[in-house]
Amino acid sequence: MATICRVFAVWITLSVAYLMHELQASSSATSSQQDANLQGVEPEPEFEGTIANVTFPAGREALLTCSVKNLGRYKVGWLRASDQTVLALQGRVVTHNNRISVVHEDMHTWRLRIKQIRESDKGCYMCQINSSPMKKQIGCIDVQVPPDIINEESSADIAVQEGEDASLTCRATGNPIPRVTWRREDGEMILIRKAGSREVSKADSYNGTSLKLSRLERRQMGAYFCIASNDVPPAVSKRVSLSVHFAPSVRAPSQLLGAPLGSDVQLECQVEASPAPVSYWLKGGRMPPNGFTGSTTSLESGQPRPEMLLDGPKYGITEQRSGYRGVMRLVVRAFSHTDVGTYHCVSTNSLGRAEGTLRLYEIKIHPGSVASEDEQANFIGGLAEAARGRGNSSANLPQMMISNTTFLLMTTLWMYAASSLFSVTTTFTSLRILQS
Ligand SMILES: *[C@@H]1O[C@H](CO)[C@@H](O)[C@H](O)[C@H]1NC(C)=O
Ligand SMILES: *[C@@H]1O[C@H](CO)[C@@H](O)[C@H](O)[C@H]1NC(C)=O
Ligand SMILES: *[C@@H]1O[C@H](CO)[C@@H](O)[C@H](O)[C@H]1NC(C)=O
Ligand SMILES: *[C@@H]1O[C@H](CO)[C@@H](O)[C@H](O)[C@H]1NC(C)=O
Repeated sequence: MATICRVFAVWITLSVAYLMHELQASSSATSSQQDANLQGVEPEPEFEGTIANVTFPAGREALLTCSVKNLGRYKVGWLRASDQTVLALQGRVVTHNNRISVVHEDMHTWRLRIKQIRESDKGCYMCQINSSPMKKQIGCIDVQVPPDIINEESSADIAVQEGEDASLTCRATGNPIPRVTWRREDGEMILIRKAGSREVSKADSYNGTSLKLSRLERRQMGAYFCIASNDVPPAVSKRVSLSVHFAPSVRAPSQLLGAPLGSDVQLECQVEASPAPVSYWLKGGRMPPNGFTGSTTSLESGQPRPEMLLDGPKYGITEQRSGYRGVMRLVVRAFSHTDVGTYHCVSTNSLGRAEGTLRLYEIKIHPGSVASEDEQANFIGGLAEAARGRGNSSANLPQMMISNTTFLLMTTLWMYAASSLFSVTTTFTSLRILQS
């Protein structure tokens, strides 16, 4: 025990002597290091400034700069802040990531460089000095990512029945979080009906991930685009086609057509249907299936069975379609007695069938002579009145009409003021008129 104490005392004495010697030595050191050396330690390493946070677009190179002075025998390391993984020590990269390197410049700057940055590189990085206590500084990298639309989580083309609801969704990723805007491909307005309300608002665009359309109308059918954009180009878009399905409806603007023999007569029906209908023309005394089966008139008696009309020398059949709207046209060439009768334009699709009925009759014309008062009233009707008022020469009228090869005369006398009536009503009216 005594021996140990003696040894310890000798060691203390020697240590103190050594320290005294050191102090004397340091007091003669250069003036610049005087302060530190007076305390008997090396100058403390410290950071120069702070690390600037940076934002880079994905794919570029990111740099974080750490400046240290008085590093001395200490070392500078770079760590990932989230999991404290050591990335580099001094200039040596210790992580297995060949996109990472450290650039050592002008003795006291250590730059962490990450090439082709990805979204996974986003986060904070720590510049650390292994002094005691340890010193650290943090800098963060934000990675800008252009928008992308996740197809699996976004709407595909969609078909719904009229009156049902639909929701069009576009899920987009990116940094910053992209905003999603909806537009119609045809530039038409987007109609948004507030839930539980009859109110409909119109806008040329809609902002939001989900475009909710309730109680769809046919006019809302079309292609919609969602456009995802943030500050990082390019913006991306996706096309979503919305089909609204409904049974056909048919409207014949002129249901009674008079024509002189020998002329070409054009019959026309306007059709609305989705999906696209199959349309055709029938001739004959056929009643619509939802039917009025009243007595046949003299016009129909010769044609008990309907005849399907085919495009050819006698009949010119065309159909124009634009979206869910279409126009069916039938031209009866060289109008003769046998062409007098009832014609039906029929349109069917998977949801139903509709039919328009038109009647074609002969106008007797005596060229060069004044038509009798009766004929004026019966066949030419309102048109004759109009012509008489304007030109004051009713005899000119028939000649004028004959000169036109496509002869189409609407007997306004029998027309409904509102022409937006469908086939059933039309047939009904026509019959009543004929019977009266
Ligand atoms: C960098 O971002 C981090 C985290 O958002 C923050 O704590 C730090 O103060 C920022 N540094 C600078 C220099 O703005
Ligand atoms: C949608 O957002 C853009 C940009 O934030 C804005 O200019 C536009 O007016 C918004 N549109 C609607 C319909 O809210
Ligand atoms: C139209 O004819 C009637 C008789 O035929 C005549 O009384 C009238 O003056 C004529 N009007 C015009 C504008 O020529
Ligand atoms: C016949 O009338 C139609 C309009 O109803 C017109 O487009 C056409 O050019 C006319 N034809 C002739 C030969 O005058």
